[in-house]
Amino acid sequence: MSDKATLEVNGNKHDFPIIVGTENEVAIDIKSLRGVTGGVTTIDAGYKNTGSCESEITFLDGEKGILRYRGYSIEELAEKADFLEVAYLLIFGELPTKEQHDKFHADIKSKSIVDDDVRKIIDAFPKSAHPMGVLSSLTSALTAFNPSSVNVDSEADMYNSVVKILGKFPVLVAWTMRKKQGLPLDYGSNSLGYVENVLKMMFKQPNEDYVQNKIIVDALDKLLILHADHEQNCSTSTVRIVGSSHAGLFASLSAGISALWGPLHGGANQAVLEMLEAIREDGGDTKKYMAKAKDKNDPFRLMGFGHRVYKNFDPRARIIKKAADEVLADLGVDDPILEIAKGLEQEALNDDYFVKRKLYPNVDFYSGIIYRAMGIPTDMFTVMFALGRLPGWIAQWREMRLRKEPIGRPRQLYVGETLRPFKKIEKR
Ligand code: SDX
Repeated sequence: MSDKATLEVNGNKHDFPIIVGTENEVAIDIKSLRGVTGGVTTIDAGYKNTGSCESEITFLDGEKGILRYRGYSIEELAEKADFLEVAYLLIFGELPTKEQHDKFHADIKSKSIVDDDVRKIIDAFPKSAHPMGVLSSLTSALTAFNPSSVNVDSEADMYNSVVKILGKFPVLVAWTMRKKQGLPLDYGSNSLGYVENVLKMMFKQPNEDYVQNKIIVDALDKLLILHADHEQNCSTSTVRIVGSSHAGLFASLSAGISALWGPLHGGANQAVLEMLEAIREDGGDTKKYMAKAKDKNDPFRLMGFGHRVYKNFDPRARIIKKAADEVLADLGVDDPILEIAKGLEQEALNDDYFVKRKLYPNVDFYSGIIYRAMGIPTDMFTVMFALGRLPGWIAQWREMRLRKEPIGRPRQLYVGETLRPFKKIEKR
């Protein structure tokens, strides 16, 4: 592999260094491009070919369907780790020892109380408000109740902010759901595990004891691990670019939640269920929806299919599909939606349009089926995605600040009007 790339512009040749990553990915470092060419830049809508940073957190290979967090395969982590272990690994770079894990959890619990005045904010939302909009607002509001900005150069300060948001975010998630349901907003119990506590805060009925269901606890723990990070996806890039202006951690996370909300991104898990429901109500006519997905004049996309990076099966989709079978069987749930999903998947995997474009099921295709079996409302699915992605966002934000990345400010190519004189209104 040559150590430089040569670009010829206006008859002049310019060399740019080639950087090779630890997984032998190759990048051309163009930071000197404008300077040496007298102002020439690149353009790459959606950044399909452009890297924004060097990162040590997550590696994925879209062609081979590989996903690793800090070098550990997603398959092993989903099978052998718990969500807090994975959160610690993503943020601090190593799997925690038992002592570190127990202290991490204890510190998270100690910071999990949310200022009661937050209830006044959540009370102001109409029940019709989408939970992602509520959650983004509440996360941003945390800054008002926790004004101290993060001194990223202080390990203690950074650790304190991490355990604070990991403690308070699940409370905001549970309160967001319960507010819509007209249920009291309360806390779980510090005697429970992280995921068990999330479930109790979400589902405990005021007049009943809450009985944990290990199948659901294990399924949610696995789903949160599978969603925990995914390198420079839309919402993570949002968290990084907002943080690059030295905006606070909570403000950056709030922006990430808004980016994740979009149906092309994390909002797809809700859109998948709505699509499958529509197909079921339409008599299970998957062919009609396949035709819509392929019709260039129809904005409809087959939700849960396709991916910017994976041009093979999304490894998370494989794991979630297997879990969906197991969880529904263990819960004794016979959901016709699952059969429709499997039928649609088979049709798409054998359809030339999808095969040629390498469109496979992604993380969002099956996750909603499990969330629904767990009793989570459809409009809360993307909130559950955000709960899982939280440690990844924190890890990426921390890495960006520790590496002292410059403020993100892309260039553009101007294609508008050239200079023209002002016209008085009576002359227009
Ligand atoms: C997530 O980036 C991440 O890592 C995201 C994520 C994470 O963990 O953070 O993995 C989570 O967001 C998963 C993706 C969830 N979104 C959906 O399921 C929505 C449906 N998928 C599509 O909108 C689309 O596949 C995207 C947005 C996911 C990717 O779009 P790209 O990379 O911009 O690809 P594209 O739109 O250029 O599509 C290439 C071709 C086009 O056809 P042609 O113009 O070549 O004829 O494939 C077609 C597209 O029309 N296509 C689809 C399709 N996805 C792409 N056609 C029908 N149905 C689809 N789902």
